[in-house]
Amino acid sequence: MSDSSMRAIIIRDHGGPEQLQLWEWEKPMPGPEELLVRIHATALNRADSLQRQGKYPPPTDASPILGLEMAGEVVGAGSEVTGWKLGDKVCGLLAGGGYAEYCVIDQSLAMPMPLGWSYAQAAAVPEAFLTAFQGLFWLGGLKTGQKVLIHAGASGVGTAAIQLAKAMDAELYITASAAKHEFCHALGAHHCYDYKEEDFSELIDDQTHHKGVDVILDFVGAPYFQRNLSCIARDGKLVMLGFMGGAMLDNVNLGPILRKRISILGSTLRNRDLAYKAQLTQAMQAYVWPRFQANMIKPVIDQVFSWKEVVEAHQYLESNQSKGKIVLEID
Ligand SMILES: NC(=O)c1ccc[n+]([C@@H]2O[C@H](COP(=O)([O-])OP(=O)(O)OC[C@H]3O[C@@H](n4cnc5c(N)ncnc54)[C@H](OP(=O)(O)O)[C@@H]3O)[C@@H](O)[C@H]2O)c1
Repeated sequence: MSDSSMRAIIIRDHGGPEQLQLWEWEKPMPGPEELLVRIHATALNRADSLQRQGKYPPPTDASPILGLEMAGEVVGAGSEVTGWKLGDKVCGLLAGGGYAEYCVIDQSLAMPMPLGWSYAQAAAVPEAFLTAFQGLFWLGGLKTGQKVLIHAGASGVGTAAIQLAKAMDAELYITASAAKHEFCHALGAHHCYDYKEEDFSELIDDQTHHKGVDVILDFVGAPYFQRNLSCIARDGKLVMLGFMGGAMLDNVNLGPILRKRISILGSTLRNRDLAYKAQLTQAMQAYVWPRFQANMIKPVIDQVFSWKEVVEAHQYLESNQSKGKIVLEID
């Protein structure tokens, strides 16, 4: 392989996990403010599955290679880079390009790996913690002691959100399949609902004496929309970050939005501009890193696969069995 090439996971044709293949790809070149990083680990996201299926095209200026986060070692830097040096161990958010030997990242998006951590641990942090931090604090405006409902509580983002909300002494309500409840309780959830068997909205209404929850983090979308409106408190914030259950609404009573003065907010990280992502990265790191080092919060890793097992890793993600993040080691 030449100096301008590297190995990366490519998508042969849009479709199932079997379309993923280790192949030769062009090695990226750092721009003036970018770091060139030798990636040692990346982690899976639901967006990777959608992109693989052709349902979530990457932004035009992003790498078409999958992978929204990474941890690795700085091996090159552009002429305007300050504050980073070759050999630094970093992790960070990418708009694409994580399933590869090398990536470039703007210096403002790189975070130093927490001391003593493995690459696998650090790769499990950026998407989950930046999304959860943004959703709970910047969009949801979570205040100490409030009540929070986190859907898909055992997901990568959910496990980060549970811990961040716990750090604010929130009363924590989560939905997840029953087999994951014990795990969510151990992370800090107070009330767990099996969304396949129970109506979370009725139970929350009952348990909060009809007051409802102050903030909802939702990744499920249409099937939960009416019930979210029913169990949210007056002046509550409904933060919508994913549509795993669908995005088309039918026959919804919008009355509670006015009656309860509900704010409905949506966001994706990937299409945010650099300045926003840099500010979010800084704010999250300032809040979370000291809590990592004090062992109050941790990234939850379900399994680590070699990137040569990327097909099995995607199959596992899509089986909905995982609790926390699925990591790929890039050797
Ligand atoms: N907007 C953003 O900026 C942003 C950024 C990152 C991620 N996200 C979104 O956050 C969500 C979680 O991502 P992730 O990578 O953390 O997920 P993940 O770790 O793969 O976990 C997803 C879990 O959600 C549950 N689930 C799947 N389909 C469901 C459905 N139809 N109804 C209810 N629960 C369902 C499953 O657990 P159970 O066993 O409990 O069913 C599954 O294991 C995704 O929607 C993703 O797109 C958004």
